[in-house]
Amino acid sequence: MLTSLDWQLQKKIRVLIASHDPMLTERLWAFLEQGNETMPIGNVASGRECMEVLKNQAPDILLITDGLTGENVLDICREAIHVYPRIAPIILAQSSRYNNPDYLHLALDMGVCDVIHVEPPYADLRFQAVIDSVMQAYNLIQERISGIGGGIGRIITLFSLKGGVGKSTIAANLAALLATQEERQRVMLADFNWHFGSLDAFVGHVANQSVLDLIPVLDTINRSDLESIAPLVTDGLRMLSAPLDMERTEFTRDLLQRDLLEDDRANLIDDILVQIRDEQAVNVHEGQTEFLELLLKQEKVKQVVSVLARRTLQSLRRNYHYVVVDTAAKIDDTTLTALDLSDLIVLVCTPDVPSIRATRASMTLLSELGISREKVAYVLNRTTRRAEIRTDDVRSLFTGYELLGEIPADFSSLQPFINSGALVTEAGSAHPITRALQQFAAQITTHTPIARAA
Ligand SMILES: Nc1ncnc2c1ncn2[C@@H]1O[C@H](COP(=O)(O)OP(=O)(O)OP(=O)(O)O)[C@@H](O)[C@H]1O
Ligand SMILES: [Mg+2]
Repeated sequence: MLTSLDWQLQKKIRVLIASHDPMLTERLWAFLEQGNETMPIGNVASGRECMEVLKNQAPDILLITDGLTGENVLDICREAIHVYPRIAPIILAQSSRYNNPDYLHLALDMGVCDVIHVEPPYADLRFQAVIDSVMQAYNLIQERISGIGGGIGRIITLFSLKGGVGKSTIAANLAALLATQEERQRVMLADFNWHFGSLDAFVGHVANQSVLDLIPVLDTINRSDLESIAPLVTDGLRMLSAPLDMERTEFTRDLLQRDLLEDDRANLIDDILVQIRDEQAVNVHEGQTEFLELLLKQEKVKQVVSVLARRTLQSLRRNYHYVVVDTAAKIDDTTLTALDLSDLIVLVCTPDVPSIRATRASMTLLSELGISREKVAYVLNRTTRRAEIRTDDVRSLFTGYELLGEIPADFSSLQPFINSGALVTEAGSAHPITRALQQFAAQITTHTPIARAA
């Protein structure tokens, strides 16, 4: 949230008006000029013009009427968000259909920030109502961009730059424990290792749908979309799978396109870069267009994947109390998005030098990514009494970061569960490892409680 000093130092909120009615435009324009923190930057009368201004001028807010001739306002908003995801659309509705909660929710789910009812000659339209709505929409979008806000849920991500430290084991058991903590608590275990996620095996579940099935509903992912592809694993716990085995080859090929890096294509990039650096008009030779097309297609796939990760997490956060995210031991767009949107990142560390180094590297990386230290904590996995490196040693290395749990090394208890696709925490408190996981889950809820409606 910005303080008033920040406001003075910052640029004003830039608003684009899209309206078919000059009288309405004029009134809105005057309001926005009058507001201390707002500024109108242009007005357009069609969806096409609207997209042009979005691309070229990057406004913060789109005030759009539902009366643009021959155009559906929701379609324009959807495209606007697609073209420029930072835009905060507010609909000025003359049609009474927004009194229907279903239609209103459809708009809000899609990313519309507010709906204001208007009626010509607009004498009822008040300065304060418009400015309040603009300010709120702006704050909402800022929160969405920075990952906080938007929903009651909390995203807890297990991460490590080193593989095999127990991220998936802990994620699956944590999710199961959070689901039993309170009646009617909805928890989603989300596999965000999109290259080779195998989390379904940990919870004894055979996935036949994956997160990729959300691509067709990317702009409007809602709870029933999520539930239709993420089945119940236990009461209160659902599991959202990473791309399935059969989808993996194509997914990886689309993202990597190894042949794109062959010499001709590398030359194409060099040529274009030189032209851009010399501020020449970019000129693509006839023989190169095919490479350029491939290159852009690959970029498109990457973009869809990033958008899918972001929208999925945002929707999960709106619809579940806890979202437990398992990640791959490397940084890619999917992992970055999860880290970016997390309410809490739990670094999984084992008491050995390579893992300690990896944890330290993660802490540095996260702080360089601008993720605040309060959102980062760690858990020690596979501790033993005989270990050369003690918990206190690790603690003194990671001062400033909270240790949320210590989970003993106990492969003999874990093994039968791993191999049969069950969770050790389902077996009650019989094993020390289960008790440690329960304590860890309790620490998580204390550290990051869900937001309760006031
Ligand atoms: N506390 C523990 N005691 C004994 N064995 C453990 C413990 N935690 C995890 N393991 C074992 O360590 C192995 C790796 O665990 P897991 O797959 O959860 O790690 P990961 O960090 O998710 O790995 P990856 O980076 O490959 O995704 C598994 O065989 C698991 O059973
Ligand atoms: Mg794993």
